[in-house]
Amino acid sequence: MKLIKVADYNEMSRIAADYVIERIHRNPQIKLGMPTGDTPRGLYRELIADHEKNGTSFKEVQTFNLDEYIGLSGQDPQSYRYYMDIFLFDHIDIDKKNTHLPKGDAEDAFAEAEAYEKLIQDSGNVDLQILGMGGNGHIGFNEPGTPFDSMAHVVELTLATRNANAKFFGSLESVPKRAITMGIATIMGSKEILMLVSGAGKSEAVSRLLEGPIEEAFPASVLRMHPHATIIADKAALSLCSTQFEKAKS
Ligand code: GLP
Repeated sequence: MKLIKVADYNEMSRIAADYVIERIHRNPQIKLGMPTGDTPRGLYRELIADHEKNGTSFKEVQTFNLDEYIGLSGQDPQSYRYYMDIFLFDHIDIDKKNTHLPKGDAEDAFAEAEAYEKLIQDSGNVDLQILGMGGNGHIGFNEPGTPFDSMAHVVELTLATRNANAKFFGSLESVPKRAITMGIATIMGSKEILMLVSGAGKSEAVSRLLEGPIEEAFPASVLRMHPHATIIADKAALSLCSTQFEKAKS
């Protein structure tokens, strides 16, 4: 796993944007895996700014989001579909029919998870999966203990994750209890992975990710087994790491 050390959130976002833009120029039909949460907001802002300034086009780009809350429709302001629309898709020239997320309001969530996995597999898999990380090491909504060979599935969210995401909902009670997420194997099936981490709040998780054992109890640790995984982490996030990593090239 390559590590790119950066000063702060803004630098992380800029370097991540350069990385993604370079990949889009190389392959205008790239399939991108998209995260939500606070972490990628700066990246999305940078992508919009670059689209406006330099005209990088998303016309042929396809996106596959990591996850979606069960019970929320795409019109619900708390849904990840809504998040993607307002923070990225509505501001670039992407064709919305090329933007994919599990349907949170599907009648049968289990069938929807299966259909989502099939959609990803049939497309030939994600080229570049962008990831954030939960404080407990979750990626997508793959909570600690999720088998490394899991495909897209329905998940019961842990209290820790619901608490962490209550900031977006106003109260813990309003945070859905279940979600559909790409599985660990789905994520590992992508050709390349770019993880973003920022802030002291993630420092324990980052040290466990980079220096702890590779184990299902800490889902993000699996990324160390991926042949093309890069992490962009800022100083605060790396503050508990003892190992000295060299700045890696993208
Ligand atoms: C959520 C999302 C994850 C995200 C994580 C971190 O639970 N499902 O995909 O990576 O939170 O969120 P944040 O970036 O807000 O810390």
